[in-house]
Amino acid sequence: MKTINYKEMKFNPFTMVGNEWMLVTAGNEQTGCNTMTISWGHLGSLWGNNDPTAVIYLRPSRYTKKFVDEEEYFSLCVMDKSFKKEMTYLGTASGRDEDKIAKTGITPVYADNTVYFAEAKLVFICKKIYAGEMQEKDFISQTPIKEWYPLRDYHTLYVGKIEKILARDDEYLDV
Ligand SMILES: Cc1cc2nc3c(=O)[nH]c(=O)nc-3n(C[C@H](O)[C@H](O)[C@H](O)COP(=O)(O)O)c2cc1C
Repeated sequence: MKTINYKEMKFNPFTMVGNEWMLVTAGNEQTGCNTMTISWGHLGSLWGNNDPTAVIYLRPSRYTKKFVDEEEYFSLCVMDKSFKKEMTYLGTASGRDEDKIAKTGITPVYADNTVYFAEAKLVFICKKIYAGEMQEKDFISQTPIKEWYPLRDYHTLYVGKIEKILARDDEYLDV
């Protein structure tokens, strides 16, 4: 994997998060890690000189949330299409009940203050800079509450400062 500069990248952030999905992972070598699939999130800039940031949304029930809450960093991995089956599994089973990472055979790499997967095509190393729970009173449209929160289990959003981007090859470079 080589480090790339976000200014040299070419990709569609909408399809990358929404269609390709990502794995959000957190943990450390001593206590282990957990991962789950996400398809809701944002890549953009916030607070600083166009510093790149990622926003992710985790429901309170996710076991991965405990790891993200406890660690200073999390990673976002973009996987090849060939991992769709594994990503569907990682997005339906819980690490609370089974060793999801061992079952899929993907390889955790503990580095850069966090953990990511050796098989990833692209990795965003994110340092948490904000976390906040969505509040029912703050919804301007009631539609998401009706459609997505019958249990009132609102997501916590995390803003991560993207400190490093690792790429397997030149796929995401504007060359
Ligand atoms: C395609 C897909 C996208 C998902 N996106 C999110 C998401 O953005 N936020 C979230 O909290 N859960 C999302 N999930 C659900 C979690 O991945 C799922 O509940 C997972 O089993 C949690 O695992 P854990 O308990 O080991 O953390 C998604 C699941 C799938 C299959």
